[in-house]
Amino acid sequence: MKLYRILQSQGFGSRKGCVAQVRAGTVAVNGVVCDDPEAEFDTTGLELGLDGVAWAYRDKAYVLMHKPAGYECSHHPSHHPSVFSLLPPPLLQRGVQCVGRLDQDTTGLLLFSDDGQFIHRMISPRKGIAKIYRATCAEPVTDAMLEALRKGVMLNDEPAPIAALACERLDAATLRLTLAEGKYHQAKRMIAATGNRVETLHREAIGSHVLPADLPPGNWRWLETTDLQQLEQSWPSAKS
Ligand code: URA
Repeated sequence: MKLYRILQSQGFGSRKGCVAQVRAGTVAVNGVVCDDPEAEFDTTGLELGLDGVAWAYRDKAYVLMHKPAGYECSHHPSHHPSVFSLLPPPLLQRGVQCVGRLDQDTTGLLLFSDDGQFIHRMISPRKGIAKIYRATCAEPVTDAMLEALRKGVMLNDEPAPIAALACERLDAATLRLTLAEGKYHQAKRMIAATGNRVETLHREAIGSHVLPADLPPGNWRWLETTDLQQLEQSWPSAKS
């Protein structure tokens, strides 16, 4: 692929802008400056350097974030800053989207990608990928509450009861809740249906992929091939 097109594909600007960056001598490929925008490179394992900053070529972008509280999962937030403001410009330029949404006050694991098929597979209700939340509640977590969540609770606008895939008490007012779907405010509404109220909600994992313990709130990280394989193995259809 031509160098200026490689830069464009990675979100480094318009055709004209990418051509200009290369001509200015600010772009290195595999450690060697190249000032020919039309130079052809094999993109496999390609390492770009832009103004001395390393950037590995990626055909598609897959990213995880530790979402902090007080950020909206929207390009047009209404009351809080957007989670997209926590990502670098090239990722925004190449059009990454949230893989499902978290409420502004929910923290934890949030995925982004520019691979539409991946997003679709991850959020498809037919796949039923487990989303694992830790919820602290206003009232104590009772056995009756856990049983109701396991058996299924009625939510407004839903024709049938919705059950948790799993739930367990972690301490007097905290529970871990595993959901197969990603309905609007689902964890909060399910807990409200039991007569309790969520005070804080944190997504710990999606399928078998756990939020890295060393990733501080507001930070993001690339998902590598092994991470993606782990996510793929979370899909029930991939297991059968
Ligand atoms: N369920 C909720 O109620 N809120 C979230 O952000 C995610 C799941």
